Amino acid sequence: MPTASAPGKFILFGEHAVVYGKPAIAMAVNMRTEVTAAFSSRTTVDGMLLKEVRSYYIREMLSRWEGEPVSISIHSGVPPSSGLGSSAALSVAFIAALYSLNGDRDIRRIAEEAFDVEYTVQGGASPTDTSTSALGGAVMVGGEQENPLWEFSKGERSWKIGRIESPELSFVVGVSRVHSPTKIMVQRVRRLVERSPFGMEIIDSIGELVTDAISALKKGDAEDMGELMNRNHELLRTLNVSCPEIERMRDSVMEMSYGVKITGAGGGGSIVALTDRPKDVKKAMESAGARSAYIVNAEKNGILWD
Ligand code: PMV
Repeated sequence: MPTASAPGKFILFGEHAVVYGKPAIAMAVNMRTEVTAAFSSRTTVDGMLLKEVRSYYIREMLSRWEGEPVSISIHSGVPPSSGLGSSAALSVAFIAALYSLNGDRDIRRIAEEAFDVEYTVQGGASPTDTSTSALGGAVMVGGEQENPLWEFSKGERSWKIGRIESPELSFVVGVSRVHSPTKIMVQRVRRLVERSPFGMEIIDSIGELVTDAISALKKGDAEDMGELMNRNHELLRTLNVSCPEIERMRDSVMEMSYGVKITGAGGGGSIVALTDRPKDVKKAMESAGARSAYIVNAEKNGILWD
């Protein structure tokens, strides 16, 4: 009875621009979703029949499964709708457990299938979340890369995926009370990019900034990283994906952090702070209206099987 687990993630640099093929850096975090799969007389998920399952991700994954019926159980350790990649961790762990029933533990194939599931369910996505969850550690998606591990494409776009060395760092992710679906925010940015050359200029600037961020991350230079996070946030704000609630949370922790930015699609959603005072930052975010705040550490392991 294989059990597979996969971590959540947050995007450290380059969200939105990555949709246009620019590089992004994401970091796996020490929160994991665990999925157990076993052959069974009928297909169930946590005791429910398929028709009772509400998650589009699970329905999509099981509709692709051509093997014998399976009984699945899920333990999610990644908070949902938090910018921490709960759907990617679920998809990656789910597919890893299913494939493992057939003795298949090919991480690349699992990451590709999980990306395809997210792309189908969300009507578009980059492979950032799913690849980071599959690989663990700090992951670079898109941009020019000399030694990528793999490359995924959709339509005209393709993304090279590779690992980046990164030091132990402490972050706090603050989740606002404004829920904003990724799909809507991606469409909002697309309209801006299509309507004016200014939109694409911002995307280009984010892409250039991420190139600088890679060397700051490799050096483990928190000051430089923080400054780049702040610049990345300003560019995201110009793309119109911030909101007053996000700005209030961010202002409340600026002085205790090296850098603070939106993480993920924005519009609401979440911020991430790089800090050496994580407890104070968590408290301040909560006082400034966060729905919740999580101290997270980088997680070096991607998919693990029991
Ligand atoms: O909302 P999240 O954490 O899944 O991040 C979305 C990131 C985008 O760049 C806006 C979209 C994508 O698929 O890369």
